[in-house]
Amino acid sequence: MPRIPVESWPTPTTAIVEGRELLAFGGCNYLGLAHEPRVHAAISAGLCRLGVTTTASRETTGNTLTHEALEAELAAFLGQESAILSAEGYTANFMACQALAPERGIALVDARAHRSIRNAASAAGMQVFDFEHLNADSARWLAARHAQAGVVVLTDSVFAADGGIAPLAELLKALPSHRSTLLVDDCHGFCVLGPHGRGSVVGAGIDDPRVVITTTLAKGLGCYGGTVAGRGEFVRKVRERAWVYRSSTPVPPPIAEGARAALGLLRESDSMVMKLRTNAAHLREVFGRLGLPQPAPGIPIFTFALDKDEQMEHLAAGVLKAGILAPLIDYPGGPCPRYFRVVVNAAHTPAQIDRLGAALDAALSGVEAKARAAG
Ligand SMILES: Cc1ncc(COP(=O)(O)O)c(C=O)c1O
Repeated sequence: MPRIPVESWPTPTTAIVEGRELLAFGGCNYLGLAHEPRVHAAISAGLCRLGVTTTASRETTGNTLTHEALEAELAAFLGQESAILSAEGYTANFMACQALAPERGIALVDARAHRSIRNAASAAGMQVFDFEHLNADSARWLAARHAQAGVVVLTDSVFAADGGIAPLAELLKALPSHRSTLLVDDCHGFCVLGPHGRGSVVGAGIDDPRVVITTTLAKGLGCYGGTVAGRGEFVRKVRERAWVYRSSTPVPPPIAEGARAALGLLRESDSMVMKLRTNAAHLREVFGRLGLPQPAPGIPIFTFALDKDEQMEHLAAGVLKAGILAPLIDYPGGPCPRYFRVVVNAAHTPAQIDRLGAALDAALSGVEAKARAAG
């Protein structure tokens, strides 16, 4: 499927494409917060009060109380001492690696980690080795071999391409005792896992000074930007060492106000997160009935592939004909070149999930192909 020319996305579950209203199962708007009126109101108020952008780095004249307040709120929510904002989730990994590289020369990266993690580690000058996907023993073996050079183990918390969850507690145990860090990219765990969506680290009950969290504000939180969170001493190093932070313009202040409002809603109530989990369980049941692969329980990302391109195109076209957007992703460098990535969010109704199931069922019966996990 080529890039989708979306005309508008009026609700978290509706996309208008080429004049047609489609029931949408794409994107990572897990809680529907990108469409939340209270978030929009905070962005509008922030726009009037602070302008579109700071027009300068925070280390010159581009700092605002809004940025500082958001950092304090993110740190508390993620269960960390301190946090620093980044322009995006991608940049958060660069910032963290720029701060880590002087003392840690070796990056051990999950073989299916997001591209930004590997890019960040090699751009920071670390020597990069892959460990087997989700395999803490493989990470431990490499960590023991390279312990003298200082080691960072880097992993996604939730893998969007296959719905897998990283074994964080085991990866922590794999770290050498000296000069070592576990970097968790929580882009798909933040707002999804843990109590109130506080993320994979709080969710796993981990409170460890060797953990650094990076995440985006553009998925579950429905806004834009990112953050690096960890111990105060480490975050100070990020501020001092990460030129990608020091020499660039921060998240626009109105968007930071929107992110503060979104976080406030999450702190107030876990109802959106619980609804997301109910919907993920419902779609799991539907996928199970259709013989399609399922992610770990609680994960809202459902991926699969068919043997042949023509079969996948036939399936995508069949579902689209039924008025549903279930994206077939062309993703060189992903787990396989093409795969379906279906994402359920908190705003979907049970009837909409059943409608997707019926459309997949009808379209699959025409292709006579066995679905397999992506990757
Ligand atoms: C695991 C992971 N890390 C980092 C990023 C980059 O985040 P952002 O889109 O905010 O730059 C993404 C987004 O696709 C992601 O899925």
